[in-house]
This record gives sequence, structure tokens and C-alpha cells, in this order.
Amino acid sequence: EKQGFRHFMLKEIYEQPGVVRACLEAYLSSGWQSEAGTSPINLGLPSELFSEVQQIQIVACGTSWHAALVGKYLLEQLAGIPTNVHYASEFRYAPPPLTPNTLTIGISQSGETADTLAALTMEQQRRADKEPRWQARLLGITNRPESSLAQLVPHIIDTHGGIEIGVAATKSFVAQLMAFYCLTLDFAAHRQSLSTTEIEKMLGGLQQLPAQMELILESQERYIEELAHSYVDTTDFIFVGRGISFPIALEGALKLKEISYIHAEGYPSGELKHGPIALLDAKVPVVSIAIPGKVYEKALSNAQEAKARDSELIGVTQLNDEEAAEIFDKILPVPPVDELLSPILTVIPLQLLAYHIAARRGLDVDQPRNLAKSVTVE
Ligand code: F6R
Repeated sequence: EKQGFRHFMLKEIYEQPGVVRACLEAYLSSGWQSEAGTSPINLGLPSELFSEVQQIQIVACGTSWHAALVGKYLLEQLAGIPTNVHYASEFRYAPPPLTPNTLTIGISQSGETADTLAALTMEQQRRADKEPRWQARLLGITNRPESSLAQLVPHIIDTHGGIEIGVAATKSFVAQLMAFYCLTLDFAAHRQSLSTTEIEKMLGGLQQLPAQMELILESQERYIEELAHSYVDTTDFIFVGRGISFPIALEGALKLKEISYIHAEGYPSGELKHGPIALLDAKVPVVSIAIPGKVYEKALSNAQEAKARDSELIGVTQLNDEEAAEIFDKILPVPPVDELLSPILTVIPLQLLAYHIAARRGLDVDQPRNLAKSVTVE
């Protein structure tokens, strides 16, 4: 039941800190001794996988595809494994040429998405009569360990998100991100692509997330609800982010369009000037994620390009960031966090923004038109 929340979506947004705690509980091994070559993560994956895999391809749809893009960033930048992300609906009819020692990950909250299941089945079949190193190595990431996806693959990571009723994926997305943090750390620890000190730092950061998420929910929701009132009649939004924040910009745009029916697009911040900037004027707000880190200054200067076109600029930035405060018209702050872990925090204000705009428009937030919780047809 909704436990006093107006919609399941809002309840599920509030359940996210608990989901992160449940994932940490499930995936972190107690008593890790910080020894090089040993892993603090326990996903139950066979150890050959960590030594054999040379490339990863991920197939997914919708929000799961966004989680996969964050996964790609982590797997490439921290574990050093070349990783490609495919829309399952495209992959199944135009798969890339075969490569050896390739791990194929299917990620699906419901575990029932027809295209994702078909892409994995096709991958299995096209490799069936090949030499061992060309054989399919399949892994599923799902919130439904009893689903068809789990039956199809030899290994799954159960994302521990708990049942999600709102059609718009929220807590299941955060749970998927946690699965990718842990999978990446598992690879990085086994392959020693990160030092034990770096791994400890990430683990420490992951453990702080639930309290930071609670802080955002407690301190921001009222403000975002208020802010949402001014966008009830807005017809277009642009979301931008760079690096690991780019998929979060895509996710922010998808949340908004699917429940509020406002046209929204997500772009890498650096792409604004290659076309979408032509859309900008005072009627089109731009939401920009700009967290201190590798591409921070670049993200700020891209935001300024939008400001010069009179767009209202909404920044998802670090709390008390004075540089950002000078650029953005409105700020949705998140507590200080390592850029690599920031997606778990920055997505929350975007979920709340989409939720409150849709709720204010009087829409059926939990059951948006034309959408279903699992898409079991092609
Ligand atoms: C967005 C949303 C959809 C799903 C997509 C894939 O909020 O819910 O985009 O993410 O249909 O679904 P799963 O993850 O069940 O394969």
C-alpha cells in the first residue's frame, strides 16, 4: 500500500536509501582484509569470469539502458574492460561481429522485456557451436529473480529493489546502479585495476550514500514541489550532463516525458552547441548536472552557453557550490560526493522534479498513458 504517500512513485523514491542499504548488505562480504587480488564483493560469480572476460556488451531497454550506460562508464574507467551498450531491440537484428571472451549482460528490472530476452537468446544461439572461448557468457541483472531472464542465463545479480508498482522506474534504477558499482568493484579487485586503497575509498563512499540520499529527500522535496508549479505549462525541457552524469540527464528527461507528457530531451552537455541549442529560448528550461570532478568546468561552461540563449538554468550541483550559484538560476543541491558515485544522488532531484510536475498537472503518475510496467511484446 501507499503508506500515506499520494502515489506509489513517491513512496518508491523515498524507499531508495533503504534499497542502497539492502544492496550493500547483500553484496559486500564482511571481513574483507584489504588484500590485493581479493574482492570485497560477493555476487556469487565464478572466478574464471574475472580472468577470462576481455569485453563486455550490455543489452537493455529504457531506464535499464540508462543504468547500463553508467555501468559502461564504470567498467571501462575503473575495471579497464571495453564495454558496449546496445538497445536490445537493435542488437537482436543487427548484432556486432563476434568477439571472443565476451560477457553479455542483459539488464531488466522486470526480467520479462521481450527484446532483452530475445537479444540474449540470439547471442546464445549464434555462439552455440563455437570453440569454448567464443561461447556465450551470459549474465542477467534483474529485480525479479524468478523472472524469465533469470531462467535464461546461468548467473544473475538480484538487484534487491523490492517490488516496484509505479510504471516509471525509480528505485529499481538505483538498485541497478548499485549492481554495476559492485560488479565493477568485483572486476577491479580481481584484476587489480584499482589499488586496495582506491577500493576502500569507493566502499566508504558507497556506505555514505543512504544518509546522503535521505538528506536530499528531507531537505529538497518541499522546494522541488514548489518549483514544479512554475513548469506546469512548460512544453519543452532539455537535460544535460557530461561523463557519468550524461546517462542521468537521459534518465531525468525520460522520467519527465513519461509521466508529465512534457517533451524532454537529454544530451551530453558538449553536444548542445551541435544542434539542440537552436531550440533554446526563455521558454525552454535547461537542467544541467554539474558535480565537481573531471568535467566540472566544462559542464559549467556548456551551461553558460544555454544561459546566453535566455534559457532558465536549473543546476543539479554540489551543496554550497558558489561557482555554480553564480551561473544557475535555480539550484537542486546534493551533498558532496565523489563524481563516480554521484549518479545515485543526482537522479533523486530529477525524479522528484518529474514527479511533482506530473502530480501538479493532475496526471495519473503511477499509470501513465500508453505505458506498461513490463513490455512483453516486441
Ligand atoms: C522507464 C521504464 C521503462 C523500462 C523499460 C525496460 O521508467 O520503466 O523505460 O525501463 O521498459 O524495462 P525492464 O527494465 O523491465 O526491462
